[in-house]
Amino acid sequence: MSSFVKYALVLLLPAAYLARRYYRSSALQTTALITAPVDEKPVKSIMQAPREDLAPPKDDPFTLAQLKEFDGSDPSKPIYVSIKGTVFDVTPKADVYGAGRSYNIFAGKDGSKGLGMSSLKEEHAVPDYRELNESDRKVLDDWHAFFTKRYNIVGRVSDHPVSDVKEEDTSANASPNL
Ligand code: HEM
Repeated sequence: MSSFVKYALVLLLPAAYLARRYYRSSALQTTALITAPVDEKPVKSIMQAPREDLAPPKDDPFTLAQLKEFDGSDPSKPIYVSIKGTVFDVTPKADVYGAGRSYNIFAGKDGSKGLGMSSLKEEHAVPDYRELNESDRKVLDDWHAFFTKRYNIVGRVSDHPVSDVKEEDTSANASPNL
């Protein structure tokens, strides 16, 4: 056997052994995950739970310009987020929607497009979501359902660029886990 082949064997055999062990153990883990009883530990969401104490939805009209007043910059005013023209009062979550907070980008406006795209970019936080593909529209509808179960509806956007926004019932076919 040439010395090259010997060296190659010395290097390759342990590597092959380790690779096989790694593969077997991850395959075993996968099997264990699949066969473990799913209801052993309930999955805890980091998101807030749905609320039971919501007020009946209101239908007060807001223009997009009026909504800006409720962007969290004045702490004495409520904070509103609109999704597909439905205006939600998110003041109880001022810690995330207030000025300088992580989701302030959606406060005082209708940022439907950005929500559908899972984007926090300023240029995406606009009301016109007609460009969204089917899967992003589903994401957007899920957010609408999420907010409907957690925030009081205080009105609707009267000058929303998507004219059929009121006709769509976004909560009816939403995922029950939201
Ligand atoms: C690394 C990426 C991200 C992390 C670690 C993250 C983390 C979180 C956490 C921990 C919450 C719960 C906050 C709370 O209830 O106090 C939350 C909620 C939320 N996230 Fe994110 N997030 C991320 C990206 C995004 C993106 C890209 C979007 C854009 C759409 C987004 C939109 C939201 C919204 C709308 C809520 C709901 C807040 C509520 O009203 O309860 N997140 N996120």
